[in-house]
Amino acid sequence: MAYHLVSGIVYALGLTAGVTALSYGDSVTKSPFEKQFSQEFRDGYSILKHYGGNGPYSERRSFGISRDPPESCAVDQVIMIRRHGERYPSPALGEGIEKTLAKLQSSGVEEFKEDLSFYNDWSYYVPNKCYYNAETFSGPYAGLLDAYTHGTEYRDRYGHLLDEDSVVPFWGSGYGRVIATARKFGEGFFGYNYSTNAALNIISESESMGANSLTPSCDTDNDYTTCDNLTNLMPQFKVAATRLNSQNPGLSLNESDVYYLMSMASFELNTRAFSEWINVFIQDEWVSFGYVEDMNYYYCAGLTLLNEGPEKAAPLYLNFAHDTNITPILAALGVLIPDEDLPLDRVPFGSFVRLVLNEAVLPFDKCTSGPGYSCSLEDYASIVSQNLVDYKSTCKIPSSCPQSLDFWWSYNTTTELNYRTTPVACQEGDAMQ
Ligand SMILES: *[C@@H]1O[C@H](CO)[C@@H](O)[C@H](O)[C@H]1NC(C)=O
Ligand SMILES: *[C@@H]1O[C@H](CO)[C@@H](O)[C@H](O)[C@H]1NC(C)=O
Ligand SMILES: *[C@@H]1O[C@H](CO)[C@@H](O)[C@H](O)[C@H]1NC(C)=O
Ligand SMILES: *[C@@H]1O[C@H](CO)[C@@H](O)[C@H](O)[C@H]1NC(C)=O
Repeated sequence: MAYHLVSGIVYALGLTAGVTALSYGDSVTKSPFEKQFSQEFRDGYSILKHYGGNGPYSERRSFGISRDPPESCAVDQVIMIRRHGERYPSPALGEGIEKTLAKLQSSGVEEFKEDLSFYNDWSYYVPNKCYYNAETFSGPYAGLLDAYTHGTEYRDRYGHLLDEDSVVPFWGSGYGRVIATARKFGEGFFGYNYSTNAALNIISESESMGANSLTPSCDTDNDYTTCDNLTNLMPQFKVAATRLNSQNPGLSLNESDVYYLMSMASFELNTRAFSEWINVFIQDEWVSFGYVEDMNYYYCAGLTLLNEGPEKAAPLYLNFAHDTNITPILAALGVLIPDEDLPLDRVPFGSFVRLVLNEAVLPFDKCTSGPGYSCSLEDYASIVSQNLVDYKSTCKIPSSCPQSLDFWWSYNTTTELNYRTTPVACQEGDAMQ
């Protein structure tokens, strides 16, 4: 009997360096005091979960469902969307950070004390303005390293879906660091054959792409200003400012400065192994900082591909965009919408869908009856189509723009975009190269 598992992959953030898997009962040294299973479980709080999408990627906490395919199942199709790797701040945020750093410099404080004592020997990790927006490439959490490592890990996991004898398309949105990520992932995933057997397709981020986009925008969404205002109003930021000012008489930081310093701290690990700035702020302050999340983008067409299955569609769809493009996909897939309860019964035959978010299997709220708590493709399609609102009409996509997504079906198989041929532009953002 043939089970096959269709795996939907939503890979939201980059990849963690330095996390090692526990291999049960398989320790090399066996002392009489060594426990087979650690009783420690101290990960209730981690800074990695409280700086939004700024800092290094971290895996999702698991529900206890194995990441590997269930017994007797094999993955036969993967649709992945991944954000770019770890990066430098945007130029706009950089401007605020630099203003606050200038405020520290001109404060008249000769020697910084207590929480800020490290600052006397610290230097900003952005060497010059041109680095803003770029993917990072130094330190253990570097974006380019993360993308490459992720590619090699997915090769190990999904390499069996690769047809070695054909040219396999993959897609990145047309933004500098997204393209850089797609290329590094590609080198890791396709290995020696990247230069000949992979074809990067670059999908412009322009709004005129309408629904034919990896980065669709929705002008009817207008939450931006509310979110911006929330950021500065967090009372914890005022408390932090008061604390730092009282430790260093002469300093006159306010809550906006604290926001900029915390933002700066959250990006520091992207280029360095260690951030002293992170320890300047206490847990409550980080929790407040992390509370601000964007939901500005919406829509994905992954459902159609899953329904066609690997026989009609291809087995591998590797896509790259921004973190803000992933949250609306989760909403469309009907997950992480607070709800409850899961009945558990038999295992039917057929195709099953599983969602993997940051390397943890995320069960669908109302559909977990398949192997490994997966959802039958049929049920999945009907549940998701009930949740899905129509992008064209909801977001009022002009009729002059594409009304549906078709780049997954009509794509280039040329390898000419696989490598960069021009120098990186200063503060590169939107870019076809
Ligand atoms: C590279 O592709 C060729 C076919 O184009 C295939 O024979 C070979 O096994 C592939 N090599 C690797 C390392 O994937
Ligand atoms: C497809 O290839 C053409 C010519 O090689 C190139 O100009 C175009 O940008 C490519 N399209 C995508 C989506 O990569
Ligand atoms: C944001 O705050 C500013 C200043 O307090 C205010 O003028 C503006 O109306 C606020 N915007 C929203 C959407 O609340
Ligand atoms: C904090 O101080 C800066 C000037 O150093 C000022 O531009 C900003 O508006 C202040 N923020 C608040 C909330 O007062």
